[in-house]
Amino acid sequence: MRIVSGIQPSGKLHLGNYFGMMLPALELQSSGECFYFIATYHALTTVSDPAVLRAATHDVALDFLACGLDPERTAFYRQHDVPEVTELAWFLSTLTPMGLLERCHSYKDKLARGMPATHGLFSYPLLMAADILAVQARKVPVGRDQKQHVEVTRDLAQKFNAQYGEVFAIPEPVIREDVAVVPGLDGQKMSKSYGNTIELFGVESEARARVMRIVTDSRTVEEPKDPATCNVYALYRLFATPGERAEMESRYRGGGLGYGTVKKELWEKIRAAFEPLRRRRADLEKDPGHVESVLRRGAERARAEASRTLQKARQAVGLS
Ligand code: ADP
Ligand code: TRP
Repeated sequence: MRIVSGIQPSGKLHLGNYFGMMLPALELQSSGECFYFIATYHALTTVSDPAVLRAATHDVALDFLACGLDPERTAFYRQHDVPEVTELAWFLSTLTPMGLLERCHSYKDKLARGMPATHGLFSYPLLMAADILAVQARKVPVGRDQKQHVEVTRDLAQKFNAQYGEVFAIPEPVIREDVAVVPGLDGQKMSKSYGNTIELFGVESEARARVMRIVTDSRTVEEPKDPATCNVYALYRLFATPGERAEMESRYRGGGLGYGTVKKELWEKIRAAFEPLRRRRADLEKDPGHVESVLRRGAERARAEASRTLQKARQAVGLS
């Protein structure tokens, strides 16, 4: 079974990325042949400073490897090292109805936030479809906000196959409902665009200060509290065992527990969970040659697959 996913180097990775996409993707490494990449072409839709893009690409590579991406099992690469996807995206664009892209939430959200309506933003899902179809993936682990893009991909693959014959495998999204939307400090979806994130590998004192700023209601220490509506608990549960969750829930309901105490316990869990990963990341940072060679090997594997698919697609449409 082929599995593909990508993440844009458009900012520092955060707990939403980790639980919504990275962890599910990393856990799938033992279930199939994985192709995970850094979506550099996609990032160009929002990052216009070359130095920032380069640095962020390197950071995402370190982050993913530190979090447990195993380059022996998984092809890990930069999207632009597999340029075949852009040609495939063009083929797909010729059978994409404008309305299909106009309906995409992520495009509409970006315009609503004031981004200029460029063609790159508009056709973003097309390139994503090409990433997925190029490696003939059947499973795509992503957070819920990417579900619609995978549905667009399915539509386009089916359309292409119906028109030109079977070229593409039909993919489906893999979304873990328990972590589909990780809340940020303010309770909205954690997102770098909302400035409400807790970074995976940020400066520890800053991350701790951000945890202490998580928005809660104004119940006093004595009052019983509802874990189901609490932003602090929503993050705490991600790090806790079932036993720890049950215990924390009963402390909430029993009264006498202040939000400040839960925040401190949450921070301790985050710190402990990421400590070994931080160490691994620091080691990787000292060995840029290794990271570069992982990305090159990954690109070779992905490129071999993408060229095969592209050859089939060219043949199907009449270009060879
Ligand atoms: P951001 O919203 O910070 O810009 P991206 O859109 O780059 O994050 O998301 C990268 C991946 O992480 C996607 O698969 C997305 O669904 C997932 N993801 C991002 N934020 C969250 C969140 N708060 N909860 C669950 N998954 C998330
Ligand atoms: N659009 C995805 C995001 O913003 C990144 C991405 C690009 C992707 N191509 C992909 C994810 C292919 C899965 C499969 O998070």
